This record gives sequence, structure tokens and C-alpha cells, in this order.
Amino acid sequence: MSKPELAPQIEHFYSQVIDENDRLTMSADGRLELLRTQEILRRYLPSAPARVLDVGGGTGVHARWLVEDGYEVELVDPVIRHVEQAAKVCPSELGDARKLAALDSSFDVVQVLGPLYHLPELRDRQAALSEARRVARPGGLVAAAAINRYSSLFEHVTYAHLHTERLQTAVSKILSTAVHDGKGFTLAYFHRAEELVAEMRDAGLTDVEVFGVEGPAWSLLKAVEQSGTVPSEDLLASALTAARMAESYPELLAASSHLLAVGRVPEGGI
Ligand SMILES: C[S@@+](CC[C@H](N)C(=O)[O-])C[C@H]1O[C@@H](n2cnc3c(N)ncnc32)[C@H](O)[C@@H]1O
Repeated sequence: MSKPELAPQIEHFYSQVIDENDRLTMSADGRLELLRTQEILRRYLPSAPARVLDVGGGTGVHARWLVEDGYEVELVDPVIRHVEQAAKVCPSELGDARKLAALDSSFDVVQVLGPLYHLPELRDRQAALSEARRVARPGGLVAAAAINRYSSLFEHVTYAHLHTERLQTAVSKILSTAVHDGKGFTLAYFHRAEELVAEMRDAGLTDVEVFGVEGPAWSLLKAVEQSGTVPSEDLLASALTAARMAESYPELLAASSHLLAVGRVPEGGI
């Protein structure tokens, strides 16, 4: 497939600024995100073997454990560097969540863990979720992740610079517009939980549920790391416990860094 159209700042960020392969394994909050994403998805995944399409799968961090669990995973991502790394894990190709090459109803599971972060226009997020629904089979699972609207507030307070004018302005802008396009990260959209649920339902998915991935203590892990100390395994275990305990309380969805929604393709098909 030809190279998908990607905003230049997103391409630059993933190709040259960060190594996405390290994000979920090298930091404590990344490990928390990985553990919680695994445990939530495993509740909904059909028994292996089943066909999983990992859209915006990056370097294959989630594809790796899914393959180890016995799933047949294929990955799509618009960044060449990611696809080259992911190809070591599973069949991987260049592609865009908004226009997937896969056939209708050809996967048991379609996961979209990342593309919605980088689609600030509602019509683009709608296209991505409609495509996920199209390529998942009737009764199949669609899972989609989003960055929480409030995550930058929690993150920047841990860095002890939220009180500076520059950061207050930047974070206030994210809170009021939901969009970030500047220093530190790249072009990104920040969801509220209700919005993510509404977008899943608008794409025709049923039985939609939404989870706070990291729970209320992820920024504490970041604060410890920021101070130059490696968070203890006890602190990580406590943060994991807090995320699990928070699940029953919808008010606490706002405290997580990421949201994870799951939904089903209606049995009647498209
Ligand atoms: C934060 S990374 C997440 C990677 C991985 N899925 C995970 O959860 O760790 C976001 C990913 O979305 C990809 N992405 C950005 N825009 C996309 C689009 N329009 N279609 C598909 N993937 C996209 C990026 O290339 C990147 O790999």
C-alpha cells in the first residue's frame, strides 16, 4: 500500500522524537498501562485462536502478547519505522485507520489503541471507528483507546511546573479545546469518557463499556520517576490495585491517563 497521509508533526514525532517501542515497557506508568490494557482486553477477547487486527498497533507491543496468547494478529500503522519493527512480531503493513484495506467482517477483533489520539476531527474518528466495525465480524469485538481529557492536568502537576504561565496556558487550552498541537507531545485529541462511548455507539457498536486504564495513581508513579527514583514494585502494585478498585465508580474515569472502550458489532451485520 502507498504511504498513508499523516500530519507531518505526527510522522516526525513517531519517526524521530520518541521510540514508541519503549513507551509501555520502560516507565512505570507505561507498565501500568500495559498491564491494565491486557487485563481489560482479556476479559472480552474470544478464546484463541482468533483473528485480531491491531490498527495503529505501533511497534507491536500489544501484538506481541496477543501472539503469545495464541491469536493470529495482523497490524496496520502509518509510520514506516513502526511497521518495520512490528513486522518482527506479526504480519504488518502501512495503513490508515480511516481507510482500512481489510475485507468486511474479516476479523474477530479489531483494536484501535492509538489512532483516536491523533485524529482531532470528529469525522476522522468516526471514519476510524466505522472502519473498525466494518472489518470486524458480526458479534466481533471492537476496542478503542483514547487519551483522557484531564490527563495533561494530572501529568504536568507531577512535573512541578503547572503553576508556570506557559504550562497553565497550554493545559488550560487542552482542557477547553480538547486539542493539543505543540511542545512535548504531538497533534492530539483528548476525550471525555462520555464522548468516547458516544463515538463508539455512533459507529453502530452495541454493548459499549468504558474503563479507566491506569486509575487514579498513575501520575504518582510519574512524580517518583521525575524525582530520579525508580518507583518500587509495591508502589506499582498499589497503583494497579487502585485502578482495579476505581473501576466500579464512573466518576473516577476522569482520573486515568487513558480510557479503553469495548463494543460489539451487532449480529445482524452492517
Ligand atoms: C501512542 S501510539 C500507540 C501504539 C500502540 N497501539 C499502543 O497502544 O501502545 C499511537 C499509534 O497510532 C498510530 N496512528 C496515528 N495516526 C493514525 C492513523 N490515522 N491510522 C492508524 N494509526 C495511526 C501512530 O503511528 C502510533 O503507532
